[in-house]
Amino acid sequence: MCGQSAQDAITGQSLLIEGPSGSGKSSLLRAIAGLCHRGFGAIHRAPIERCFFLPQTPYLCIGSLRDNVLYPARAGDAEVSSEQIRTTMRNLGIEHLIDRHGLDERLDFQGMLSGGEKQRLSFARLLLHPGVHLALLDEATSALDEENEAVAYNQLRENVHCYVSVGHRPALANCHSLRLQLRRLDDSLGCQGTVSSINLESPHREGSPQLFQGSPQHQLSQHQL
Ligand SMILES: Nc1ncnc2c1ncn2[C@@H]1O[C@H](COP(=O)(O)OP(=O)(O)OP(=O)(O)O)[C@@H](O)[C@H]1O
Ligand SMILES: [Mg+2]
Repeated sequence: MCGQSAQDAITGQSLLIEGPSGSGKSSLLRAIAGLCHRGFGAIHRAPIERCFFLPQTPYLCIGSLRDNVLYPARAGDAEVSSEQIRTTMRNLGIEHLIDRHGLDERLDFQGMLSGGEKQRLSFARLLLHPGVHLALLDEATSALDEENEAVAYNQLRENVHCYVSVGHRPALANCHSLRLQLRRLDDSLGCQGTVSSINLESPHREGSPQLFQGSPQHQLSQHQL
């Protein structure tokens, strides 16, 4: 994957990255997202404009719900209707925010919304963002209860074929097809990772792009990230 060989980094599927605190999960995700410029090696993924990164704590701006849910809108993006926004937010269980604040009232949502509401708003951003091929989620549902987490991942699975998550909850395995277990070796050697399949009741769709494949053992050096 990182500095190994091109064959280790393939397109596709859904990957859950697990490991103890400090084992390098976020560093790996940031490297895949192109947010980490240290080190060397090759990472093969969809073009950056087709990737969408969801942090654990989403950034909300002072502005309307519409401004926040359509962030980061790009010039030339197709217009997203109020109905599309409402449907997406309803599917994620946060339609009440529109009922409460409307779509166009400017407010400080950063200081107002609960952690779980912010994370679901962040999911709405992802789902309303056009042309996402690869979603990268760093503990993006950590503030949600398991039911709402499953709802969010079902929405994700229906809309984005390929995603990589960092997470701790055992139930997250149900939402992914592959697992990467990272473990820290020591400060000088970085971490080691093992990739394995997760057997889901409904196997991944035929023709879905593949994300990772190759040998089951990947040596990941944080110096290379
Ligand atoms: N920019 C950086 N410069 C130096 N060291 C860093 C940097 N970013 C991360 N690290 C170190 O790399 C190691 C892995 O950090 P990382 O944030 O990837 O861990 P993690 O597995 O995501 O942990 P957690 O579960 O606590 O979020 C840590 O020891 C961290 O201090
Ligand atoms: Mg982390």
